[in-house]
Amino acid sequence: MVKPVDGTTEIGSIPTVPRFGVNNVKGDEMADNQRNKVFAAFLKKQLNKQPRKILDVACGDGRLTVELSKLFPFSDITGLDPKPRGNKHKIKFIRGKFPERIKQLETYDLIAAMHPDEATWPIVQKCCEYHIIFAIVPCCIMHVPPTFPGGNLSKFIQYIINYAKEHSMRIVSTTLKIRGANRAILGTPIL
Ligand SMILES: C[S@@+](CC[C@H](N)C(=O)[O-])C[C@H]1O[C@@H](n2cnc3c(N)ncnc32)[C@H](O)[C@@H]1O
Repeated sequence: MVKPVDGTTEIGSIPTVPRFGVNNVKGDEMADNQRNKVFAAFLKKQLNKQPRKILDVACGDGRLTVELSKLFPFSDITGLDPKPRGNKHKIKFIRGKFPERIKQLETYDLIAAMHPDEATWPIVQKCCEYHIIFAIVPCCIMHVPPTFPGGNLSKFIQYIINYAKEHSMRIVSTTLKIRGANRAILGTPIL
């Protein structure tokens, strides 16, 4: 584990994050089937206690929600998506958008999101505001704040990290061993 001077804990090497991942794969290849399993395992390893209440934002077909429910069997886990497609898993899913659909956001201990598209920035912003742990794997630059100076996904990720640190979050960031957009950021409030 490397501790860079700026205080971010980086695990492994610190690569750039091309839009379509390390191998410049495109389209379907971006959707690595293992990505949710790998991300959930990363969270299990990093979190020192089981979150009581977890929200999986942009859950899509619910694969991350399912993986989280396996690794955190005692947590209350909900998936949120405007078009949730995971009901077969018998997990609680809510239809709607983050953040407006979630009432009592402050009751969640962890907001997790794999490739959450336009929900990326709202997750970071709301978790900083409410001092909630967030864990995201950003995949694109959508709905960014006006203060983002622009640039590629790597620049956006660095902007997220800096913003979270300025809002008293400890950051752990790593490159997951998956194809496609693979930079995970875990922000934990410094109490
Ligand atoms: C690239 S897909 C990723 C889905 C899933 N996490 C996965 O890895 O397969 C992006 C998802 O974000 C959802 N989404 C977009 N904006 C959202 C928002 N504001 N709140 C919740 N989900 C959102 C979309 O409906 C879509 O399912």
